Amino acid sequence: MRILIVGNGGREHALLWKLKRDAPHAEFFATQPNGGMAPLCHGVEIPATDKEALADWATKNKIDLTVVGPEGPLAEGITDRFQEMDLPIFGPTQAAARIESSKAYAKNLMQKASIPTARHRTFSKQTEAEKWVHELGAPIVVKASGLAAGKGAVVCMTVETALEAIRSMLGDMAFGEAGHEIIIEDFMEGEEISVFAVCDGKDFVLLPPSQDHKRAGEGDTGLNTGGMGAYAPVSIATDEVMEEAATKVIAPTLEALAADGAPFCGLLYAGLMKTEDGLKVVEFNCRFGDPETQVVLPLMKSSLLDLLLAVARGRSVANIVVETHSGCAVATVLASDGYPGSYAKGKPIYLPTELDSDDLVLFHAGTASNDTNTLVTSGGRVLAVAAVAKTFAEAAEASRAGASQIGFEGAFYRADIGWREQARVDLPPEGDTG
Ligand code: GLY
Repeated sequence: MRILIVGNGGREHALLWKLKRDAPHAEFFATQPNGGMAPLCHGVEIPATDKEALADWATKNKIDLTVVGPEGPLAEGITDRFQEMDLPIFGPTQAAARIESSKAYAKNLMQKASIPTARHRTFSKQTEAEKWVHELGAPIVVKASGLAAGKGAVVCMTVETALEAIRSMLGDMAFGEAGHEIIIEDFMEGEEISVFAVCDGKDFVLLPPSQDHKRAGEGDTGLNTGGMGAYAPVSIATDEVMEEAATKVIAPTLEALAADGAPFCGLLYAGLMKTEDGLKVVEFNCRFGDPETQVVLPLMKSSLLDLLLAVARGRSVANIVVETHSGCAVATVLASDGYPGSYAKGKPIYLPTELDSDDLVLFHAGTASNDTNTLVTSGGRVLAVAAVAKTFAEAAEASRAGASQIGFEGAFYRADIGWREQARVDLPPEGDTG
């Protein structure tokens, strides 16, 4: 079997790592692989965004399965192009990917299908948006409707910051086309959970729940990033909560998309807020989360490949049971100084050789080999140290310890990944008054 991974970040390294475990004898290819992926596959020097060239290449190279990591190519219709050429591909069509590429579309769909989410309105005129904010007050959330690399949602604790966000998106066009339409929605109190559903258009299976850490600084302070770390599973995502996610969110969303002529075949990522009134959708993504994938896949005992192949071949996933390991996984992301703003590249990376093991995996993101074959930094998020252990506390400790041993100029990481889970672990047992 010949498998092509489209994309070259930490998520794609994790997909490659897991699929290679599922099918050790398969031949793997990846577009412009990073420094950690390159030794595991053949590199394809075509950008992930060039769907025409990739479809031609996949045809010539007899690719049996293509797995798309990032949202950009999906929103641009890579799946539609591959399907036209009878190439099996895992990822939704352009129409179904609108669940992520247009927040306005996603919000309308949720409203029509009574899927719980924050009350919202859509605006393309600055003055109308400003009037609405003055009427509602703060806290309030302003979001660019289109794709904005994880930076398009601004949680505004004051009316002034909301007005500033509106000005920047609709006035200064800070996100270009992605922000020509914006969503303003109620601020939701609660804790977020990332739920991944592998969907065949009608049925789905859930993977273990995880939690991302989007802010750059410890204690969830500082700027929003693509994600500085994650852990799985999340103890507040109990069986009852996951059942609620399945019945109140995932199933009706798949039904609504199918009714809209856009059946969703791929990975539906529901970002859910656990509020006092039950789960509410914060956002949908049309692909695996990054860095959540780096903790979800190490916990998967059963084959990911079987699931992805079933979907890509148009078969049902209804009878596929996902088996997971009983432990916990924690991933700590090492980033370049300055991220999520501008940062230097090309810094040599020191990696202790003994670090990689069955229980500790280094997923590369922004790494590359330079002219002298030295591993160097090439991105804002550089590496994720994913540790698996019996307990959350052990996994968190191993992930932090791993991160502390990796060195490059300007490296920083959050030493508090999973702090909410840690606080729950630290709670005295019920009835213990100390
Ligand atoms: N971890 C957030 C995302 O993948 O969008």
